[in-house]
Amino acid sequence: MKRCKIQIMLPVLAGLSMLSACGQNDETAPVSMAASAELPGGMMVKEQIEARQAQLKKIGKGFKAISDQLKAGSPDLKQIQAAAAVVPKEAAGMVDWFPEGTGPESGVKTEALPIIWEDKAGFNDKVAAMQDAAAKLNTIAQGGDVAAIAAAFQTTGGTCKACHDKYRLDD
Ligand code: HEC
Repeated sequence: MKRCKIQIMLPVLAGLSMLSACGQNDETAPVSMAASAELPGGMMVKEQIEARQAQLKKIGKGFKAISDQLKAGSPDLKQIQAAAAVVPKEAAGMVDWFPEGTGPESGVKTEALPIIWEDKAGFNDKVAAMQDAAAKLNTIAQGGDVAAIAAAFQTTGGTCKACHDKYRLDD
């Protein structure tokens, strides 16, 4: 604070150095500058990446719950219905989870490939295809016909894979 005040009293000398002395408070943080950079929406790069990974985990969990039930001898419809509602809900707004600067160049651990930003339109199409399929799966699940649910589940799974194959790091 002291340093800032002194520089404010000497505006001509301070100039740009005032910005660098007062604007950074995380010089010692163990994250890279890119990871702690602020995105237009106000989130830090690292926060944005972790938030989308948390959403994708929820989607993955819901998806697995449906798969487990479909594989079971007598599927529990209630569990399928609850899980099927989770996927479209948690996937809402997914096109906004990948702002510029949140790729591997940030230094944050991510499986998002740079091609996402080279082909944003193609990526967004894949998001929309999954959201459509997940919404249909949810509607069908609430109807309770297990064979129809299994078919819609297959279709939705295909939309996850179509994106992962191209835009997500192989693991
Ligand atoms: C439009 C592309 C796209 C679609 C569609 C998509 N994903 Fe992903 N998914 C990604 C990307 C990219 C990552 C890596 C994100 C990261 O690491 O920053 C990912 C990561 C994940 C992860 C790992 C999350 C973590 O960090 O632990 C899971 C689980 C997952 N997706 C499940 C699914 C399921 C299930 C579906 C379909 C219902 C789906 N995804 C549809 C692009 C997509």
